[in-house]
Amino acid sequence: MKLVVLGGLEKLLLVGSFLTHIYCEEEVFGISGENFTFPVKADKKIEEAIWTKNKDKVAEWEGQNEPTYFNSLQSRSLLNKESGNLTIFKLENSDSGTYRLERFSSGKENGVFTFKLTVLDAPSTPQINCSLSGDYLTLTCEADFQKPLDYVWKITGRKTSTGPEVLIPKENVDTGGKATCFVTYLEIIKSSEIPLNQCFATYQGYRSQKRSRHGLIIACVVTSLFAGAGLIYMFRSMYGIS
Ligand SMILES: *[C@@H]1O[C@H](CO)[C@@H](O)[C@H](O)[C@H]1NC(C)=O
Ligand SMILES: *[C@@H]1O[C@H](CO)[C@@H](O)[C@H](O)[C@H]1NC(C)=O
Ligand SMILES: *[C@@H]1O[C@H](CO)[C@@H](O)[C@H](O)[C@H]1NC(C)=O
Repeated sequence: MKLVVLGGLEKLLLVGSFLTHIYCEEEVFGISGENFTFPVKADKKIEEAIWTKNKDKVAEWEGQNEPTYFNSLQSRSLLNKESGNLTIFKLENSDSGTYRLERFSSGKENGVFTFKLTVLDAPSTPQINCSLSGDYLTLTCEADFQKPLDYVWKITGRKTSTGPEVLIPKENVDTGGKATCFVTYLEIIKSSEIPLNQCFATYQGYRSQKRSRHGLIIACVVTSLFAGAGLIYMFRSMYGIS
């Protein structure tokens, strides 16, 4: 009886058959348009490897020659002769399915691996929103994807932070800087950035414009009052009126 334990399992389904083998079906995810390699660990030197997809043979290596590829994987995949792992280039949605690898060493079986591959659309480019409330600036980052994403923020003058949302005390915001949000899934990275002054543009910009106009009007009134007073004073002193 052989127990194959695979690392980094997202979900483990034990499909056991008591008399022959116990094997695990590992659920794996790939991104449409990207390359994907099934995570197979190297063991002993292998001499033969056969990959099937939904029971149809898709790749085979018999030791002497180069591997051969069939059906959907013809001319878009590569079987590694050391571990038997298989890379599919430029994943397509139709590559989703159940894949199985059988390896042989010295004529004996050396591992059976089963994977359920699901091809996902790449995450969308993230969208950053900002809002001001109270003493804080809140930045949120959002991207469409079928699975949870990791979020990383790089914000001018601040330590790198994680999570879909960041809260910054207003007085600590470098308004000349920018905020960049990175969303990652496996090795896929998408990012967006915004200049931080944009967060203050509609709200504070409007206020400060109003304030300065206000100031201008008051300043005009004050100067004309002074000017008026000065003229009256001048006339009075010129014509000796008291
Ligand atoms: C996929 O693999 C091919 C061949 O090795 C390589 O040229 C290409 O850059 C890879 N694509 C990605 C997105 O990594
Ligand atoms: C595939 O197998 C080769 C040889 O053992 C190894 O170097 C490579 O890291 C493997 N790739 C993955 C993604 O596991
Ligand atoms: C961000 O802003 C866009 C456009 O204004 C809006 O459609 C979206 O719902 C906002 N997202 C969040 C998380 O507030």
